[in-house]
Amino acid sequence: MSARKGPGGPAEPAGDAGAAAIEIRGLRKSFGDNEVLSGIDFHVDAGEVVCVIGPSGSGKSTLLRCVNLLEEPSAGTVRVAGAEVTDPDIDIDAARRRIGMVFQSFNLFPHLTALGNVTIAQRKVLKRDRAEAERVARANLERVGLADKVAEYPGRLSGGQQQRVAIARALAMDPRVMLFDEPTSALDPELVGDVLGVMRELAEDGMTMLVVTHEMSFAREVADRVVFMDGGVVVEEGPPSRVLDDPEHERTRTFLARVLDPAGQGP
Ligand SMILES: Nc1ncnc2c1ncn2[C@@H]1O[C@H](COP(=O)(O)OP(=O)(O)O)[C@@H](O)[C@H]1O
Ligand SMILES: [Mg+2]
Repeated sequence: MSARKGPGGPAEPAGDAGAAAIEIRGLRKSFGDNEVLSGIDFHVDAGEVVCVIGPSGSGKSTLLRCVNLLEEPSAGTVRVAGAEVTDPDIDIDAARRRIGMVFQSFNLFPHLTALGNVTIAQRKVLKRDRAEAERVARANLERVGLADKVAEYPGRLSGGQQQRVAIARALAMDPRVMLFDEPTSALDPELVGDVLGVMRELAEDGMTMLVVTHEMSFAREVADRVVFMDGGVVVEEGPPSRVLDDPEHERTRTFLARVLDPAGQGP
């Protein structure tokens, strides 16, 4: 707050303009005696793409789940688009509407077409009428390269196509930020590229994105910053070239060696 009050500094704009899109401060989360997040601080600026990497069990999914309140943080604050989602008095449903979430599993309704899957939450949650919801759904299915699959049921779509429907479903809600939790981990290798291609286009369009991924080439090419987590803390963060090619910490080096050379063959 006080940083903005300096003489000659820009006046605080109305609304949430100028605020970080996501701001996480002192975030802790325990399950019983197990502290999974031990004080996380970082932010994602509007239009930024931040990739979170780290070993299994390091708390990456829990972090994302605390951002959209699928988990209640034990301590700390999370702000999204200027609103404190950890404020006990907040309208949780309204807060969640600002946040698009894409999981490893696509969770599409099998009895609804692609169009139906992208339409249903718009109608139920945003109360859009059918024509408007379908217009938005078609536009977003086209955006993810599925204009020709609008009438298809999930069972007749590949995993990569289903995940792109899930991305269209999230986009149709006009989110302020998009969270991705290992969106390509459940896909056959040959289907990963299409999903990453859609995510890359979203990034180029200026979407604010927080992405948990093991796709190091995506992180390297698309992320503005990479955050390495281990044991419930941020070990280091910085531009991809620094964190991935010249990490400061031994834990980061060990993790990257394992991810980039899983068979342990070495050069
Ligand atoms: N709902 C839950 N109840 C109890 N423990 C949980 C729950 N969710 C996650 N955990 C624990 O939190 C730790 C971190 O999990 P997670 O955030 O899924 O890590 P990551 O996504 O980095 O693999 C793990 O030890 C996991 O068992
Ligand atoms: Mg996870």
